[in-house]
Amino acid sequence: MRKKIVAGNWKMNTTLGEGVGLAKDVNEALKNATPKCDVIICVPFTHLAPVNDVIDQNKLGLGAENCADHVKGAYTGEISAEMVASTGAKYVILGHSERRQYYGETSETLKEKVNLALANNLTPIFCIGEVLEERENGTYHDVVKNQIVEALFDLSAEDFGKIILAYEPVWAIGTGKTATDDQAEEIHAYIRGVIADKYGKEVADNTSILYGGSCKPSNAAQLFAKPNVDGGLIGGAALDAQSFMGIVNAF
Ligand code: PGA
Repeated sequence: MRKKIVAGNWKMNTTLGEGVGLAKDVNEALKNATPKCDVIICVPFTHLAPVNDVIDQNKLGLGAENCADHVKGAYTGEISAEMVASTGAKYVILGHSERRQYYGETSETLKEKVNLALANNLTPIFCIGEVLEERENGTYHDVVKNQIVEALFDLSAEDFGKIILAYEPVWAIGTGKTATDDQAEEIHAYIRGVIADKYGKEVADNTSILYGGSCKPSNAAQLFAKPNVDGGLIGGAALDAQSFMGIVNAF
């Protein structure tokens, strides 16, 4: 069954103390709530184990924001999927546009990361999305399709079924400029069609496709009302428990 999901992406924000405090606040808000979606927070590596200690993962899932494309060894500064899993985290964001743009991540490296995440029982939240120029010159369908095909279409149908997708137009990330609900629905439906062509309708229907990019309490309900929008990947608005919960409660 396709899941509704709201996931926070804290990016490179919060000290350890601030992060643990924020996680506690979200956990507390969820304690007596019955959200109509799964709720996840993806936090900096340094925060994973201590955040895991203060949250109830039955109500609030925990994820990392990246992992390495190698199993282990002489890769100074890298964090493996196995290390992430050993903290208690269950999810990992992969292929975020900031990783692609600033750290040169390619479909080839992302393919390795996806395989290693799955091998360590982590659920990848795999990000795709076009830049403004590609939106404006009308090539964004091909861009998004290629990102999916290159990094994910070597997976078996069973493994593909474990992936959460996040469509994040780069022009909408951190800019305050959200895709309209119709723009999100159009590309999400297209993405589901690409998946159906490869893996069949059932796999496509069961894939959660989140929208990300300046999603906030004021626009979440409209976006989430669209049939092919299964939730959100939330950056800035996830750094405040109240606004994050405002988005969770938009379902
Ligand atoms: P934003 O970021 O909500 O701050 O636009 C979303 C993301 O990059 O995941």
